[in-house]
Amino acid sequence: MVSYKELGLVNSREIFKKAIEGGYAIPAFNFNNMEQLQAIISACVETKSPVILQVSSGARKYANQTLLRYMAQGAVQYAKELGYEIPIVLHLDHGDSLELCKSCIEYGFSSVMIDGSHLPYEENIALTKQVVDYAHQYDVTVEGELGVLAGIEDDVQAEHHTYTEPDQVVDFVSRTGVDSLAISIGTSHGAFKFTPEQCTRDANGRLVPPPLRFDILKEIEKRIPGFPIVLHGSSSVPQEYVDKINKYGGKLKDSIGIPEEQLREAARSAVCKINIDSDGRLAMTAAIREVLATKPEEFDPRKYLGPAREELKKLYMHKTQNVLGSAGKA
Ligand code: G3H
Ligand code: 13P
Ligand code: ZN
Repeated sequence: MVSYKELGLVNSREIFKKAIEGGYAIPAFNFNNMEQLQAIISACVETKSPVILQVSSGARKYANQTLLRYMAQGAVQYAKELGYEIPIVLHLDHGDSLELCKSCIEYGFSSVMIDGSHLPYEENIALTKQVVDYAHQYDVTVEGELGVLAGIEDDVQAEHHTYTEPDQVVDFVSRTGVDSLAISIGTSHGAFKFTPEQCTRDANGRLVPPPLRFDILKEIEKRIPGFPIVLHGSSSVPQEYVDKINKYGGKLKDSIGIPEEQLREAARSAVCKINIDSDGRLAMTAAIREVLATKPEEFDPRKYLGPAREELKKLYMHKTQNVLGSAGKA
């Protein structure tokens, strides 16, 4: 068992408190390899932003639990070496069992999500409370979820949103003891969040998705003032990456994300953690495709992973500076 504190990591408690008070959100960027980790840390050090390194169960299997523990420890040292200490959280994304959460805590995670959102309400409460009771013994913070996002949540599939029911949040939060709550107000996972039929078109013919349900968010905030709220599925799916991917042989059709202005608005509220994975996947894929297509003679992975890492860093800096407002808050 290694405590996250020995690795130099922090849990999410303090940074969430400051984020709510300051009207910004902490980025939770998913990663599973070295280049992504380098890009996240260098972008957040350069913009002086706190950061949540987020690992899904699939990513943990992909990268290996032991390597991840040392990568997180390395990330803390790397940030120091770059010249500025930032708060770094290592967080399990969409944990689906007590066993998985326990194992992550044993390997140095400072925060876990237990996603019982697909379970009947009472079962969600029971499972979430079990995880909270265990995690709090180690001062590890826990994120729960109420309401179901449309799309695919790891093993959980939901065809339609079930928006979070504001009348349930007080009961859920008080009976489970969670430290933060992920809610469903219209975001969803992946690069295809809306069908074109759900969208309208702007003057340039670009698809504009339906707005997030800020009315539900407000109702939730009224019920649990100052309580940390989390938004999953918050990639914006930048069109330039989709265009570049398609220009260089990709096949992405009707990729639509959450407009950045809406995320900025959410970040000003009690939303203090915003999850972004797909945008990083798109940035990386676009950069790699461009190199492979324009320089077919290259076969050194550094020659395409290097530009991908640069593109990721640019994306993450943009998110902290212009979308989440977390730049300068570390
Ligand atoms: O919410 C899901 C995240 O984007 C992680 O996706 O399970 O494919 O690693 P993944
Ligand atoms: P995106 O697919 O919109 O990046 O959402 C990621 C996420 O919510 C990870 O938990
Ligand atoms: Zn998610």
